[in-house]
Amino acid sequence: MARIDHRHTRRDYRLGQLRRADLAANPIDQLAAWLGDAKAIENPEPTAMILATVGEDGQPAARAVLLKHLDDEGPCWYTDSRSLKGQQLAVNPKASILFYWPELERQVRLDGEVRMLDPALADAYFASRPVGSRYAAAASHQSQPIASREELERRLDALRARYPDGAVPRPPAWIGYRLEPSLVQFWQGRESRLHDRFQYTREPEGWTITRLMP
Ligand SMILES: Cc1cc2nc3c(=O)[nH]c(=O)nc-3n(C[C@H](O)[C@H](O)[C@H](O)COP(=O)(O)O)c2cc1C
Repeated sequence: MARIDHRHTRRDYRLGQLRRADLAANPIDQLAAWLGDAKAIENPEPTAMILATVGEDGQPAARAVLLKHLDDEGPCWYTDSRSLKGQQLAVNPKASILFYWPELERQVRLDGEVRMLDPALADAYFASRPVGSRYAAAASHQSQPIASREELERRLDALRARYPDGAVPRPPAWIGYRLEPSLVQFWQGRESRLHDRFQYTREPEGWTITRLMP
């Protein structure tokens, strides 16, 4: 791993370096290492990632979601499958994910295929969420219009009345997804814009690593 002096680099924009020899053979391991670095500094949302999807009309749409687990196949998140992103993934199960950690002058992009996770994982994660988040997820049909905040709160109150003990079930549409990358790029800012970039591409024999010009 490149050594990063956060306080020093912030002052003069020298934010470490990324060398071929620093890279893990597998981009998921490399991402795990960079996530560890992002969590180790004062970063309000180290696991926030921008998820871009494309629907039938070819129009890309991007939004932030939170990484909930990184497994050997790729990053996973949870959402409402009835949302715009869910609808787009249903017709075009490809996405691009971007992590950007300005404090480290690093970004990681992953492009690939998206799969829905086993509903049992969604059950387990849903059950682990704070009770308020469970009610909120169940009260919302994500990305649909609603007339007012009051109407949303009425939906919430109705659920609270129905499940006063907090045992609100996971909405069937609230589900996990995983992006299984075929291409992953790591970007490390360097002095005078001569940045370090490495691209992993999935080949039949394993991952190939290529340095890219900035
Ligand atoms: C930092 C951050 C984290 C978010 N995490 C999630 C998430 O994990 N799941 C989710 O469904 N929406 C999350 N959202 C809300 C989404 O950005 C988005 O508004 C919502 O999912 C609807 O997107 P869509 O209409 O494009 O499908 C997050 C927003 C922010 C700013």
